[in-house]
Amino acid sequence: MSEPLRLGIAGLGTVGVGVLKILRREAAMLTARTGREITVSAVSARNRGKDRGVSLDGYVWEDDPVALAARDDIDIFVELMGGSDGPAKAATEAALKSGKDVVTANKAMLAVHGQALAELAEGNGRVIRYEAAVAGGIPVVKALTEGLAGNRITRVMGVMNGTCNYILTRMQSSGLPYDEVFQEASDLGYLEADPNLDVGGIDAGHKLALLASIAFGTRVAFDAMELEGIGRVTIDDIKAAADMGFRIKLLGVSQMTGRGLEQRMAPCLVPAASPIGQLEGGTNMVVLEGDAVGQIVLRGAGAGEGPTASAVLGDICDIARNFRLPVFGQPAGTLTDVQPASSTTPAPYYVRLALQDKPGALAKVATVLGEAGVSIHRMRQYDHKGGRAPVLIVTHKTQRSALDLAIAGMAGTGVVEGDPVALRIESV
Ligand code: HSE
Repeated sequence: MSEPLRLGIAGLGTVGVGVLKILRREAAMLTARTGREITVSAVSARNRGKDRGVSLDGYVWEDDPVALAARDDIDIFVELMGGSDGPAKAATEAALKSGKDVVTANKAMLAVHGQALAELAEGNGRVIRYEAAVAGGIPVVKALTEGLAGNRITRVMGVMNGTCNYILTRMQSSGLPYDEVFQEASDLGYLEADPNLDVGGIDAGHKLALLASIAFGTRVAFDAMELEGIGRVTIDDIKAAADMGFRIKLLGVSQMTGRGLEQRMAPCLVPAASPIGQLEGGTNMVVLEGDAVGQIVLRGAGAGEGPTASAVLGDICDIARNFRLPVFGQPAGTLTDVQPASSTTPAPYYVRLALQDKPGALAKVATVLGEAGVSIHRMRQYDHKGGRAPVLIVTHKTQRSALDLAIAGMAGTGVVEGDPVALRIESV
């Protein structure tokens, strides 16, 4: 039997505790599968005295995660603290510099500093594994780096923030407005400490940026992502979209085009009957498309103790088996700079506007759309209330820039009240 594999775990929240539980409960199974005993040498967290429901007896306690990361009696530094900078980054760097491999669930750190950390890891002959950072328990990093390595990836899509999917599907099923459902999600403890990470699309954007890097061999480029959260999705839009056969999802899409790399994380409409349209509650879904394999759909829990710990354990087992891959699936020096797409692929759009009840009002809107080169595919007008009627338009495929021109023009018609809402309809 090989030497034991010794862990140092920083961060004993939900995920850290889940990892400890599996290590204790399944020690024999893990040893049978990897050929090594997997032990914990030391742990670190913010609050030593907290009752976590799991014994820390037998583990050295370190107040400072950087000191933990540099200890001589650990082989893997397991970083479960979170945060793009601060202690997580400092401790990760310390671990790599002192010859430790790193397993992390930290999407923010890798989305912002992934290239530099990958170079540091390779320079020290170490690996960083991060399956738990993307879509919780779904083994999507493995699917892309290993199972699909023989494919030219054409598109990566995903619903990768369970909290947003919970909010949007709960609005749909209850008819409640965004603010009320947001509060429900908060009361249920679904939201990150900074809720904007969830509802602002940032958490999901970090995840998509990591997948795009692996899929397209590019340096991780979160800054180049088009990002919009769900805070402006109204119950009116959810109902109107449903009425026309769609669901609204916070969907990430990344695809390489002749115009550069498109990366967007934004609310959009998808057909209600599609796998993504059917995705309920806090579940995640990732869709991968490759030239040889076609389309792969992965679905599962994107957060929570068990699913996230499952992903962390998968990475630990790979290292125990001495299975090692570059951080983004190929050496960091071979990743290319991202050329962000100059424009987005044309798509149909959903447009909702409040039209005044005047003769010729609809004609004025249709004229503005026509002059911008936007063609109407479907249209519905609902009952007038207080002299205003909601009008829903589904366009034919159009450039976003043309639609923006038309929407700007609507302000000058004198018949449209407020700002029209425009959401992309994604083909999934
Ligand atoms: N807050 C995330 C979610 C999980 O709701 O999916 C951690 O990335």
